[in-house]
Amino acid sequence: MPQLRAAITGIHGYVPDYVLTNDELATMVETNDEWITSRTGIKERHILKGENQGTSVMATKAIEGLLEKTNTDPANIDLIICATVTPDLVFPATANIIANNIGAVNSFSYDLQAACSGFMYALNTGAKFIESGTYKKVVIIGADKMSSIVDYTDRTTCIIFGDGAGAVLLEPTEDENGIMDAILKSDGSGEKHLHQKAGGSRRPASTETLENKEHFVYQEGSAVFKFAVTNMADVSEEVMKRNNLTGDDISFLVPHQANKRIIDATARRMGVGEEKVMLNIQKYGNTTNGTIPLCLHDYENQLKKGDNLIFAAFGGGFTWGATWVKWAYDPK
Ligand code: UT7
Repeated sequence: MPQLRAAITGIHGYVPDYVLTNDELATMVETNDEWITSRTGIKERHILKGENQGTSVMATKAIEGLLEKTNTDPANIDLIICATVTPDLVFPATANIIANNIGAVNSFSYDLQAACSGFMYALNTGAKFIESGTYKKVVIIGADKMSSIVDYTDRTTCIIFGDGAGAVLLEPTEDENGIMDAILKSDGSGEKHLHQKAGGSRRPASTETLENKEHFVYQEGSAVFKFAVTNMADVSEEVMKRNNLTGDDISFLVPHQANKRIIDATARRMGVGEEKVMLNIQKYGNTTNGTIPLCLHDYENQLKKGDNLIFAAFGGGFTWGATWVKWAYDPK
């Protein structure tokens, strides 16, 4: 019997309208366009403005576009997994809110949290539900409103992050395309370098946590940078080697968009030229769980059936991983 695989059969992304440029950031903190561009590759990022606007707002828009493009009835969705570090509420899961918004009345849904690697973890988790033969339509969404946990007086973090969402549809296939292989890793000793101090059960919100600005992203940038460069490249190389893939076999590297210098180093190690690297960090910054699906959304028209893609991510936890995907459809 042919092996049942999970194929990505549709992709859609959404970013909010408001564009926060490097020049505007330079009016808020001591920084400038030249520094941000040369150190990160970022020129602007999108921000979700307005009262009571959570991550689910962007996720819902991304999934609505996905359902329209793929002509999918929401009642036929079996499962929705939302990868996010900025859920609308501590509970219930943002995925439940999204399912209700789109009318996915027959699905079950839950959130998955693996920081910037969350979308990749969720993609592989969803693929297993398909490969088991139990489920036929699984939506994986990566979405974050990073502006809700960024301190806009801290120049070392506020320049990096942006808001956005991307969603893919996974369906079963028996041909040689789909999610082929993955290596996923984590190392909790990385906590000290990248975390949010308060708001969880260890340090619930209090006057003190608010005064100390403990509800924002804390990042030791250069330490994280070193781990990201090494680990993202290692794991990408490993997944290629064990599947006998060389740089020539790869159509695109689809990297988490945290810093252009990390992306360049990963591509060099894989032997992949820059023309084969998906890049949109200049427009969106680091949208955490949104980066990989937003890349696929932007490059969808350049992808052909059978193209070999390597997804690569690194984030808080630490978490990291690489996934080999054979693209399952031609441009429509
Ligand atoms: O997505 C999750 C995982 N996250 C990552 O992968 C992020 C990894 N880290 C990075 O991307 C980089 O470390 C940053 C972009 C965060 C920082 O770049 P860097 O080249 O590592 O800079 P640095 O932290 O070593 O700082 C160099 C200098 C410092 O000044 P001194 O001490 O040399 O005088 C900083 O104070 O640059 C200064 N600096 C800035 N200057 C202008 C830091 N931020 C800024 C800024 N504008 N926004």
